[in-house]
Amino acid sequence: MKINRSLARVARKNCIAMAVGSQMAGLEDPGVRETYEVARQENPDGLLLANLNAGAPPELAVAAVEMISADGLQLYLNVPQELAMQKGDRDFSGTIANIADIASSLNVPVIVKEVGFGLSRESIAAIYNAGVRYVDIGGQGGTNFISIEDMRSGKDGNRAMINWGIPTAVSLLEGLSLDFPLFFVASGGLNTGIDVAKAAALGACLVGMARSYLKALLEKSEEALNNKVAGIIDELRLVMLMSGAENLEHMAKKPVLIIGKTAEWMDRRGIDINRYARR
Ligand SMILES: Cc1cc2nc3c(=O)[nH]c(=O)nc-3n(C[C@H](O)[C@H](O)[C@H](O)COP(=O)(O)O)c2cc1C
Repeated sequence: MKINRSLARVARKNCIAMAVGSQMAGLEDPGVRETYEVARQENPDGLLLANLNAGAPPELAVAAVEMISADGLQLYLNVPQELAMQKGDRDFSGTIANIADIASSLNVPVIVKEVGFGLSRESIAAIYNAGVRYVDIGGQGGTNFISIEDMRSGKDGNRAMINWGIPTAVSLLEGLSLDFPLFFVASGGLNTGIDVAKAAALGACLVGMARSYLKALLEKSEEALNNKVAGIIDELRLVMLMSGAENLEHMAKKPVLIIGKTAEWMDRRGIDINRYARR
């Protein structure tokens, strides 16, 4: 309740979107509904996203959106995290069909997202074919839920899997290479205004941050988080000014050089990255 209240206040003050965490707890136990509802109360006109597992039944998806009068619903995919949990899900069959059902039964947009392991272009194509037009690639490089599950259980049984995943920039490029009419959200390890500028220059229309915001809020204060968000927005403006970009759409047309391992990855996947350099 306290965390969502602060996040909503900071979102309102800085005019940024906010997503709540999985609402399954609030759907199963009416006693905790108010810990989600507080986000809408604090920011009545803000852009607020509901959140549920992509395997959740469509009627719960409708209820999650209603709970906070959400402007959209994030459906998360977290197979590696579930597998890292001793009592996590093991059966993911029917997930794509379920996403299609949810997307067609809601009157707000659906965003399908990963939680830090990234999405391949094959997965993104399947999500597109399910009727979804917003994809948050939730790439590797930030929050690592295999490592978090190990910490929670007090065991380190998943050490061999700790580096599993597709890095954020790579996953974004994989998705963009499809050239489908999709809106991309970049998240996973973003921390600064320069990170945001890079994502925007590649073609993301939104970015998401969890870890760095929660760290500022929980290790410091709501004021510290406010300063962090305002600082990121300032930094983004500086980078755009230095790049000669008038707005985010213009930023997405600036030449971008992709080098090193990311370039090598794209080369092996047959994805042409020269188009970014020759814009
Ligand atoms: C404490 C914590 C809780 C999270 N809970 C959820 C969740 O309930 N649903 C979800 O879709 N993603 C959840 N995420 C994942 C984030 O939405 C995001 O995809 C991921 O953390 C990558 O971004 P980051 O590196 O900025 O943290 C959570 C992340 C953190 C740090």
